Amino acid sequence: MSHTRCVGAPKVLTEIAPVFKELSEIRRKPDVFSAYTAETLWTDPHLARQMLKTHLDQSTPLASRPLPIIDQTVQWLDERFGLNGKNVCDLGCGPGLYAERYAQHGACVTGVDFSANSIEYANLHAKPGCGSLAFRQANYLTDVLPEQQDLITLIYCDFCALSPAQRAVLLEKVRGALHPEGAFVFDVHSVKAFADVSEGVVFARNYMDGFWTADECYVFHSTWKYETAAVSLDLFTIIEEQQTWRVYNWLQHYSQSTLEAELRSSGFEIEDISDGLDASDTGGHAFTVVTKPSGN
Ligand SMILES: C[S@@+](CC[C@H](N)C(=O)[O-])C[C@H]1O[C@@H](n2cnc3c(N)ncnc32)[C@H](O)[C@@H]1O
Repeated sequence: MSHTRCVGAPKVLTEIAPVFKELSEIRRKPDVFSAYTAETLWTDPHLARQMLKTHLDQSTPLASRPLPIIDQTVQWLDERFGLNGKNVCDLGCGPGLYAERYAQHGACVTGVDFSANSIEYANLHAKPGCGSLAFRQANYLTDVLPEQQDLITLIYCDFCALSPAQRAVLLEKVRGALHPEGAFVFDVHSVKAFADVSEGVVFARNYMDGFWTADECYVFHSTWKYETAAVSLDLFTIIEEQQTWRVYNWLQHYSQSTLEAELRSSGFEIEDISDGLDASDTGGHAFTVVTKPSGN
């Protein structure tokens, strides 16, 4: 019946049903935290090179904060914890921008990251100054972490990319790796940032200029919100000539009370909440938490 719309114009019929089905699948809202693709994003050889480039690029804050902010952060950590002589572990250290600076303040530092590319870069470029510096290619959710750490950091809201079950696993591993008086410092996205997220979709050929693949591709970037859970999702569907694949970037957002409740249920107490890891965030889009295992 809809054919009547094209009166006068010859209709070019293609086999439309499979395309319709595929588009419906692409635009179907996934269940919250139903897939985990962080490893693809950071360790696939092409993407890992792109991510490292993004990480080191001072003109974009996509993978890390600008170096002046990182300097301020390390200064704040030094004033708060006195890094000299401390055992410090940086989880998700990337190319070692924080780890290097901790060591230059005299800490004995272990950087942990599952990207071979970033670890290779860190080993080649990071200078320990008066401290010591070791990098491990490891997954902080599944591999053994160094023990007796005075301070463990996880910076750039990476905690928020994990599902509730993964966060519980991570907190358990962090507890096992901390010295009894040690602290875990990390940052999270706020509910204020969640309010700024809008659902939508962008479609483009070779979206993000060769970021996803060196070959021709078509990309749908869908943004979804899960209101009750305060979770957002940036879902990238990458369509190449021979394959279609997806990258899911989940972000959990927190209020101080939801974070406190989650930490308490994993046996951690909040010592303080501040903007210590990013003093430039005057809009309150993220906040920093200093936390310790309960009972210490
Ligand atoms: C957004 S970057 C932040 C890097 C660094 N903290 C910074 O701010 O410069 C996230 C880093 O965490 C690493 N990463 C993500 N999940 C990981 C995991 N499960 N185990 C180890 N490294 C992980 C990635 O390879 C990447 O280098």
